[in-house]
Amino acid sequence: MKFFADTAEIDDIKELAATGLLDGVTTNPSLIHKSGRDFMEVTKEICGIVDGPVSAEVVALDHATMMKEAEVLRKIADNVCIKVPLTIDGLKTCKALTGEGTMVNVTLCFSANQALLAAKAGATFVSPFVGRHDDNGFDGMDLIRDIRLIYDNYLFDTEILVASVRHGMHVLEAAKIGADVMTAPPVVIRALFKHVLTDKGIEGFLADWVKTGQSIV
Ligand code: G3P
Repeated sequence: MKFFADTAEIDDIKELAATGLLDGVTTNPSLIHKSGRDFMEVTKEICGIVDGPVSAEVVALDHATMMKEAEVLRKIADNVCIKVPLTIDGLKTCKALTGEGTMVNVTLCFSANQALLAAKAGATFVSPFVGRHDDNGFDGMDLIRDIRLIYDNYLFDTEILVASVRHGMHVLEAAKIGADVMTAPPVVIRALFKHVLTDKGIEGFLADWVKTGQSIV
């Protein structure tokens, strides 16, 4: 499963990229706002740090203006992936852009039928929001299971990008179901490294090493 970081914070992206686990980045207008950075500038900077897709979201609601915004955004770098909402205009834009060879991430997906529409529109990625689904009394992972089944039934190439990931169980379940990608905030990705027995093991080994009185360097 590919790992994307759901953030526009440069320091976090650099740190995660250095571990070799980062396959891409997703941003949205809220994350750009949180970063306090200029949208174009920060997107360009992120595209220079990771080789994989970097999602940059349009804010227009109509197809014609979405296309104009996408035109500006896709000039930022070759690895920009245009993010569009799951609406009729969003999917028209998706169809047009992917037809021209531009990557598209269809976002704000909350049903398997919506995911089916995104795949038929040729989406590169579809982003079902599992955390927000859970928040509203549904099972986000059931949604991922249904989308996986439908995409496999019809051999759609669209990648399932599990979004709104809140904790390690979401990551584990997404991997077990066979989602193609998950995107999570850096704090959630960092937590995946942690295990109490790892910490305890290091502590024990170091205590014994000190007793040897030796040093490696
Ligand atoms: O990738 C979508 C994500 O940014 C939404 O996450 O936590 O705001 O539901 P959240």
